[in-house]
Amino acid sequence: MSVTRALADGGHGQDSWSAAESAVLGEAVHCAPSVHNTRPWELTVHGRTAELRERPGLPAQHDPEGRDPRISFGAALANLVLAIGGLGWAAEVATGLAGDLVTATVTGTHRSRPTDAENRRRRALADRWSHRHAFDRRELPEGTRDVLLDALAAPGVTGRWISGPDEALAVARSLDYAARVFRGNTEYQRELTLWTNPRGHGVRPDAFGAVGLAAVGLTTSRTRLPDESLLADRIQQEAVLVVTTSADTPQDHVRAGAAMEQAWLEATSRDLAASVMTQPLHLEEVRTGLAQRLGLTAVPQLLMRFGLPAEPEVGER
Ligand SMILES: Cc1cc2nc3c(=O)[nH]c(=O)nc-3n(C[C@H](O)[C@H](O)[C@H](O)COP(=O)(O)O)c2cc1C
Repeated sequence: MSVTRALADGGHGQDSWSAAESAVLGEAVHCAPSVHNTRPWELTVHGRTAELRERPGLPAQHDPEGRDPRISFGAALANLVLAIGGLGWAAEVATGLAGDLVTATVTGTHRSRPTDAENRRRRALADRWSHRHAFDRRELPEGTRDVLLDALAAPGVTGRWISGPDEALAVARSLDYAARVFRGNTEYQRELTLWTNPRGHGVRPDAFGAVGLAAVGLTTSRTRLPDESLLADRIQQEAVLVVTTSADTPQDHVRAGAAMEQAWLEATSRDLAASVMTQPLHLEEVRTGLAQRLGLTAVPQLLMRFGLPAEPEVGER
């Protein structure tokens, strides 16, 4: 975790985050999910303000437009706002762009109490994780789907549960297509190997799901792709959500990431597990094809799956 404290105010004044408060903010941001666990942001605190800046990185083969770092940034921003609320401040957020990179200035404007939902989600920050394995076969508890949709709803962002065999098949077709494209792309495979190097800081080598939707999240050249109808069956057995935005600007990617994190934390607070998948949707033909098949007018940005975690085997997490 790295938090820079700007020197201008020395950090000691009454109108500043204390060192302990800055550490809380840094820890919250550090817990956010990010593409290949890269944490593509920098946090600086000064006065009652926290500045989050996207860190420049090399364009990834699977994501030439840099969508994933911005979605990750949105998740970190959501965590930062929750943490500021937890310190007893109302947070005002101003997002912007510095060249191609997204930025956010979050200011604690006045003392304020967090809502119950904010408290619940903030307490779940450190417990959230990516569950890429099978779920328990039981259905989500009644009402959970609506709660998760509410958690992610934000201006310009909506969620839609995949429902019924036709929609499941539509998702399966899109994922199967994308997985074949990535599996045949040697440069993508090289990057994935780097990110899963046990000595590196990327995803854990056990991050590859074995069955169903999880199995097509990160596709290596060895991944056995399930056949479309089998994949569609598995999708129907899981609670799969597509998160969409009304437009497709960098700010929309940030919004999608913040919304994703709210839903993920809400699920975590209810002892549910989740994982996210964006890479198939980096292919424009997959975004438009999926939108068409599902009759969406908005842009699909990411897929999430939720479920009751099956007992993890020793060492699995
Ligand atoms: C924008 C974004 C894209 C991601 N894409 C994938 C993906 O396609 N497949 C996958 O298995 N995990 C994906 N992840 C999950 C990250 O790998 C994971 O959050 C990170 O390794 C940290 O692990 P944790 O979530 O268990 O804390 C993505 C996360 C983010 C924020």
